[in-house]
Amino acid sequence: MNQLKIGIAGLGRLGKIHANNLAFRIPGCTLTAACSLMQSELDYARSELGVQDLYLDFDEMLVNADIDAVAIVTTSGEHCRQLTAALAAGKHVFCEKPLGVTVEECLSAEKSVENHADKTFMLGFMRRFDPSYVYAKQKIDEGAIGTPYLVKATGVDPLKFIEGSLKFAGSSGGLFIDMAIHDIDLMRWFLGAEPETVYALGGSFGFPQFAEMGDAESGCALYKFDNGAMGIIHTGRTAAHGYHIETEIVGTLGSIRISPVPQKNLAILYNSQGVVTECVEAFPERFAEAYLAEMQEFVDCVLSGRKPNVSVYDGTRSTEIAFATTESFKTGQLVRLN
Ligand SMILES: NC(=O)c1ccc[n+]([C@@H]2O[C@H](COP(=O)([O-])OP(=O)(O)OC[C@H]3O[C@@H](n4cnc5c(N)ncnc54)[C@H](O)[C@@H]3O)[C@@H](O)[C@H]2O)c1
Repeated sequence: MNQLKIGIAGLGRLGKIHANNLAFRIPGCTLTAACSLMQSELDYARSELGVQDLYLDFDEMLVNADIDAVAIVTTSGEHCRQLTAALAAGKHVFCEKPLGVTVEECLSAEKSVENHADKTFMLGFMRRFDPSYVYAKQKIDEGAIGTPYLVKATGVDPLKFIEGSLKFAGSSGGLFIDMAIHDIDLMRWFLGAEPETVYALGGSFGFPQFAEMGDAESGCALYKFDNGAMGIIHTGRTAAHGYHIETEIVGTLGSIRISPVPQKNLAILYNSQGVVTECVEAFPERFAEAYLAEMQEFVDCVLSGRKPNVSVYDGTRSTEIAFATTESFKTGQLVRLN
């Protein structure tokens, strides 16, 4: 095979980004089919992406479409069932995070992947493909900061999208499961270790509606890893200045900081407001290169038979840690991970 035929499921906020990349920017693949619950999104796929083979039902796409692989970018609660069905139908699978909405779903997804070991499976932890994170990992592996012993991560959504955050909060799994999972994965990746304990706090300072739903608007969590390293996560939904993603990795010989000022670009505006650096607006802008690179990696892995470096086990582990973090926030107790 030298050209992968892909069907995409989900054409929402992120699905459209992946679909555009697959249709126009990734050599080695053709976007041949698309599926969504919404006819308007299928019309978009036909008119904007030139996809003619369109489905309102995922299983019908699996049966009828001429595809080698599926990209699953649907609502989180659909991922586990759809990836299982796609693998059983003999398709390679790219699946957006989260792997599942419960740990049980993740373990079931592991079994499906193990039962179809001849198929490529990749999970969408795209930050591992962001050029700055790739560079940081490379520097750590080269010993540039000595032994890494602390990761400090901030991930706060823009206040201007608070209506959307409130709308989806009830079905998102909660702040730590929905928002912190990327930082949890990155801590494991950078430190090469697994958390042993977590202690988390949360509160709803500007928007009590989150507390009324049993969730938190803002939170932080402290992790101790099995090699003695430490992790601190600050996550939330109310960054007034924009989309604040910042990571620092501290080692025995130095540290690496990724976007300590989450600026839009290198331009600085001098005007009546003072000296102004605009902030990145949201995830499509901040991680545009990462979404492209991760999907290119998926296609290359299928075509070459190489295994992706984000596995189904990374999905389960991050989910287990996110649930333990939520448990600590809800009980006020330190939680020990297996
Ligand atoms: N990696 C990241 O940075 C990142 C960013 C945003 C979202 N996500 C994940 O991507 C997924 C999609 O998020 P979104 O914001 O694009 O959601 P969205 O609500 O904008 O879109 C969801 C899409 O899934 C489709 N869909 C839902 N159920 C379906 C089904 N049974 N069969 C076929 N299609 C179905 C809908 O029609 C819609 O097109 C979520 O799981 C989310 O967690 C990841």
